[in-house]
Amino acid sequence: MGNTEKSWEKRLAGGPDEVAVGFVESLSVDTRLYKYDIVGSIAHAQMLAEQKLISKAELKLIKDGLVEISEEIAAGRFEWRKEYEDIHMAIEAALIAKVGQAGKKLHTGRSRNDQVATDIRLWMRDEIEILQAKITLAQKAFVKLAGKYSEDVMPGYTHLQRAQPIVIACYLLSFVEQLERDFVRLKNCGVLLNISPLGCGAVAGTTLPLDRKSTAKQLGFSDISYNSVDAVSDRDFCAEFIFDCSVISAHLSRLAEDWIIFSTNEFGFVRIDDAYCTSSSMMPQKRNPDMLELIRGKTGRVYGSLTAMLTILKGQPSGYNRDLQEDKVHVFSASDTVEACLDMARAVVSHTKFKTKRISAGLDEGFLDATALTEYLVGKGVAFREAHGVVGSLVAYCEKDGRKLSVVSLDELKGHCGAIEADVYDSLGAASVASRYATEGAAGTKQAKDQIAYWTRELGQR
Ligand code: ARG
Repeated sequence: MGNTEKSWEKRLAGGPDEVAVGFVESLSVDTRLYKYDIVGSIAHAQMLAEQKLISKAELKLIKDGLVEISEEIAAGRFEWRKEYEDIHMAIEAALIAKVGQAGKKLHTGRSRNDQVATDIRLWMRDEIEILQAKITLAQKAFVKLAGKYSEDVMPGYTHLQRAQPIVIACYLLSFVEQLERDFVRLKNCGVLLNISPLGCGAVAGTTLPLDRKSTAKQLGFSDISYNSVDAVSDRDFCAEFIFDCSVISAHLSRLAEDWIIFSTNEFGFVRIDDAYCTSSSMMPQKRNPDMLELIRGKTGRVYGSLTAMLTILKGQPSGYNRDLQEDKVHVFSASDTVEACLDMARAVVSHTKFKTKRISAGLDEGFLDATALTEYLVGKGVAFREAHGVVGSLVAYCEKDGRKLSVVSLDELKGHCGAIEADVYDSLGAASVASRYATEGAAGTKQAKDQIAYWTRELGQR
């Protein structure tokens, strides 16, 4: 048997077309599955020996051969040939070249269909842990930054219009919450995917007495799949994984968008460190937030992968189809992109400064205390809907001569609503409002400290 001869050489006439060889191969994408392919093969061989389908001596040859191949690949000594199509064929061919007859028994009761389904699940289990670790690091960076701004107030926005005052720490911790859901989503994805398809063969299982629970146990799967037709074609977990990556991208993209706006001269809320800016080839004064723009831009790539993955799944007939080979390029692209974005976001966050003086100098613009004034009136027995109307007309009254609520005289205030008393001024001004928020989870000074303490404790255990 020549080195590149395939197991189906006896079935198909002549060699494959050159163009077809290049077209059908996935080795250029799936090489990175090699460790998982080898681990899966060792488990399969171990089980074949337990079931007396191969001898102990054959098992040893197979195992030693596979370990050697793994070392060769790791050391860059492995000879890759695209004629092998994919990582599974490449490793099997190398094994046969190394150990001969015993190697030819490895694929007993197995197909590349259950093999690749197993490999991606094993890979994804590890990848989820890597992403979770990166999420945690990013969360810690946010918490650390929040710790510096637990007293400082900024405008909170809705519709990008000034809404209510919020503590900067609470703004920052909003990203920790988002990332926490991303963390949990990935965990859930990991639970659902941790089922072994190995032993389902091409589509129907096998007439040979394989022990699927043995391979599942060896590989750390929590159970086996119970329908071979489904198991070889199920890539739900790939779509779900890319969806999880997409939501992470969405979150990081929102952060990026915020800070791109916040770093403009018009806002001047944050300073992105020089290390994460670029300048212009023409305009010497520029400090452009390119890293943030790329985090935002790369979201398109991840969403593209999600759309691609869902489209690949759509309308395939039952059982394995070669379409499924297209899964990996998108799964890998999404995870690589999100890994890079998480690293970049963490670095940017760790070095960003909020310009608190500038932010507080502008805090009295935009009637951030209007809602608190309405609530002050509620405290004086005015129905909320009426109070809302009173403050609405007060704001319109102030706007005429460009005044703030806090400088309107008590007489003028009383003119709008008799329930207003001298203590009203305690409820005005953005900073005092932020110290008066009463509800759990509010964006106030007290709550900021609780939230920082909570996340410091929680993330400290990870
Ligand atoms: N490289 C293929 C994939 O990624 C492996 C399975 C191919 N199986 C087949 N019967 N052609 O899906």
